[in-house]
Amino acid sequence: MNRSIVTGGAGFIGSALVRALLEKGHRVHVIDNLSTGNLDNLEEVADEITVHEVDLRHYDRIARVIEGADQVFHLGALPSVPKSILDPVPSHESNIDGTFNVFRAATEGKAGRVIYAASSSAYGDTEVLPKVETMAPRPKSPYAVQKLVGEYYATAFCGCFGLETVSLRFFNVFGPRQDPTSVYSGVLSIFLTCLIERRSPTIYGDGEQTRDFTYVEDVVELMLKAAHASGVSGRVFNAGNGNRYTLNETWALLQKIEGIDLPAKYGPPRPGDVRHSQADTSAAVQELGHKPRFTFEQGLRLTLDWYRADLERKTVSTKASRG
Ligand code: UD1
Repeated sequence: MNRSIVTGGAGFIGSALVRALLEKGHRVHVIDNLSTGNLDNLEEVADEITVHEVDLRHYDRIARVIEGADQVFHLGALPSVPKSILDPVPSHESNIDGTFNVFRAATEGKAGRVIYAASSSAYGDTEVLPKVETMAPRPKSPYAVQKLVGEYYATAFCGCFGLETVSLRFFNVFGPRQDPTSVYSGVLSIFLTCLIERRSPTIYGDGEQTRDFTYVEDVVELMLKAAHASGVSGRVFNAGNGNRYTLNETWALLQKIEGIDLPAKYGPPRPGDVRHSQADTSAAVQELGHKPRFTFEQGLRLTLDWYRADLERKTVSTKASRG
């Protein structure tokens, strides 16, 4: 039976991948320090997986788990551009040192291919859209640099030590279970919970910045394809939907879906923020068989339904615990 490791498996993308791997009959080991991930995300599958509550900075402990694995999906990271500017040391240690440890453990433990969750932030502000893998990276924040270093390590480990790697540059992934509770949370998790609770979100800047919002299930599908594609080891691919939406358009669309009129508030732009983001998906389509199944609006509606049901679940359990 295939033994797969998912670092960051308690996060919202990682836990969606864990479910997909279980459906394919894999034996799944999750490595997560639960700093931003949450075991609630794995509640229904808890009996079917092994969770190792370990920090990626502890080489010996993760090496034991990774040794001999058939595949390693490396999603564990400390996310957020603004957080990496405010406090760069923890994200540097997790995202660069932790990533190095994963590649080293996979090499020394003779594991199979490592699929690395890279980031669209590596591009920075480019003059041309959509962004294509052959463009020179221009990272604007510590987070973007850290994620880019991981790609360079992936390619170097492939070339120098024969480790199979594929890096996927994620473009603003969203979907069920994304944690909306921090100011550093992904913008759609914040917008959707504001919508349900009828609160105005804060848009940083003029709201005309664009993002290629990508539904989580499409990214999961692509990771599974990247694990088996031939002739792609050591390479970097965009993992996006191929479209882009302004934040103003997005908030307007959400109001339309709910049939409400609730203007957003505006605040100063965030340092390190990329202005426009859109993936050229040609290489992923041709070489990995990438085929996004969800339009932005379909993904938004599914995620909105999930947050609404989750909120109801939490309200019911709070009432029950109060008796
Ligand atoms: C960046 C990466 C993304 C990565 C993520 C990890 C780019 C283009 N994308 O996302 O691939 O997964 O880091 O953290 O670099 N915003 C608001 N109001 C809010 C929250 C955010 O207006 O309440 C704005 C931000 O200023 C930004 C946009 O929404 O312009 C998206 O922000 P966010 O969801 O945090 O992701 P990125 O920083 O774009």
